[in-house]
Amino acid sequence: MQHLVAPSLLAANFLHLEKDIQLVNRSRADMFHVDVMDGNFVPNISFGFSIIRQIKSIAEKPLDVHLMISHPDIYLEEFRKAGADWLSVHYETCDHLHSSIQRIKELGMKAGVVLNPHNNIDLIRDIIPYVDYVLLMSVNPGFGGQHFIESTYRRIEELAKLKQELNPGMLIEVDGGVDVNNAEKLVSSGVNILVAGSSVFRSKDPEATISRLKGPF
Ligand code: DX5
Ligand code: ZN
Repeated sequence: MQHLVAPSLLAANFLHLEKDIQLVNRSRADMFHVDVMDGNFVPNISFGFSIIRQIKSIAEKPLDVHLMISHPDIYLEEFRKAGADWLSVHYETCDHLHSSIQRIKELGMKAGVVLNPHNNIDLIRDIIPYVDYVLLMSVNPGFGGQHFIESTYRRIEELAKLKQELNPGMLIEVDGGVDVNNAEKLVSSGVNILVAGSSVFRSKDPEATISRLKGPF
């Protein structure tokens, strides 16, 4: 399949968020990546339901919501109501990860699990058959604009093997430090969804950058 590109709105200009959303709407991007941070699971706070609802009201592509929050189970339904189409939770934030994944699916969303750079890939072996996607963090979560961690390539290959064995339909998403220089290598390593924040919104021509991230390659 052709890989997907999800610009991260964390790097958008919040003084003209509508303009940046329209830019993504008319670009070759496939969905919006929406980062929710609670100041507890990660050392930063981003935004919550009211902003997501407003994004949803003008977004013409699905919202891929990445929860960097403790106790996400409490809020799964509320994120659906706010407009999430894809919803991912970090491995260590769910006491009963299988139930959380099932609940996300029951609510009508694609369900994903997220691994931090230090999380062993094998931790998720038994949940892989149940998820729609796995998000591999290629930076430590909490901030945009960080450097891509090179060991991610090896992790992608490890995950791609488990995917082949246990759930060939599952998608692999990579988030953090993705740009036009590493996109092609990531896709050839097995990535299906590229998340890109600063490399898109800090570029001179974000629409052209999105197009370069899409390839073809
Ligand atoms: C980081 C977030 C990312 C962030 C990526 O915790 O999960 O989605 O927006 O930003 P860049 O692409 O700038 O590394
Ligand atoms: Zn993210």
